[in-house]
Amino acid sequence: STRPDGGFFGSSPFQGQFPQTRLRRNRQSTWSRALTQEKHLHVSNLIWPVFVIDGANHEEEVASMPGVFRRTIDRLLPALQEAETLGIPAVAIFPVTESRLKDPEGTEAINPENLVCRTVRAIKEAGLSLGVICDVALDPYTSHGHDGILRNGVIVNDETVARLCQQAVVQAQAGCDVIAPSDMMDGRIGAIRNALDEAQFQHVQLLSYAAKYASAFYGPFRDAVGSASQLGQGDKKTYQMNPANTDEAIREVAMDLAEGADMIMVKPGMPYLDIVHRVKATFGVPTFAYQVSGEYSMIAGAAEKGWVNRELVMLESLLAFRRAGADGILTYFAVEAARRLKNIQ
Ligand code: PBG
Repeated sequence: STRPDGGFFGSSPFQGQFPQTRLRRNRQSTWSRALTQEKHLHVSNLIWPVFVIDGANHEEEVASMPGVFRRTIDRLLPALQEAETLGIPAVAIFPVTESRLKDPEGTEAINPENLVCRTVRAIKEAGLSLGVICDVALDPYTSHGHDGILRNGVIVNDETVARLCQQAVVQAQAGCDVIAPSDMMDGRIGAIRNALDEAQFQHVQLLSYAAKYASAFYGPFRDAVGSASQLGQGDKKTYQMNPANTDEAIREVAMDLAEGADMIMVKPGMPYLDIVHRVKATFGVPTFAYQVSGEYSMIAGAAEKGWVNRELVMLESLLAFRRAGADGILTYFAVEAARRLKNIQ
């Protein structure tokens, strides 16, 4: 008899007609591909990071993030309403702070009337029901662009943590649902948990940016919030993780969970999917990944050039996060992806 393998397998366990197992059989039709799909992207997996600026009736595109806007609160609210209607569960608010409000200690971070607090209050007063996530870190407010307090060239850990606790409480008072420390100081999760509990905010959730790397992929974000010029040639390598490390991410996550983190974030996202996978597999806790600004801009920029298909690459990249084990994804594509998932436009 003629065998399609030309006898290549010799006396292999394959008896009879080769091949008996054909993986292409399940791929041959749309219905069968749907039936055998292992992971899915759903709108409930999406968290939308947004930039807010002071003023009224204004929005502007971020130059290095085509399709992403900085909006004043009054313009942000309708955009958030649309996100909520689409079914996006939560947003992360990032304020653009005027330089005159920045100082070496990031004092504006603990001003209950700062832009992020006013934004949270406006969202709650508008009756929106989506979850509101606020970063805890000093970089939107420091004149040097670092996430902590700088003394004699050193980001001082414990003094910074005390300031971060105040920042967290002020944001919780404004109505923030989820406090997301993104500063990478040691011990901040436990300290912030205690501070929130003492202020009667036991219900406020903690999403720890536990494995946050010193990444060049944050470039466009720093443009967007105006911390790039402050930071200059500086970097955050004394507190953010070395991109070469994996075991250390597991230690960071273990410590943050022990200190009371409710949810864990890995950041950046796409270049760090191995970390997402290992964190989820090791701890089995709610694990989120941040498709950061540089990742967004690579896709958006290449799509603008006509080099990749924006929509297809967007959806494939988001599905890849799910395959790696992420429960949710912070992505600047959130609204666009949600519309696409719901077949709108
Ligand atoms: C600051 C912060 C950064 C991002 C989120 N929070 C930048 C940084 O650490 O310098 C980056 C997000 C992005 O690039 O989209 N604590």
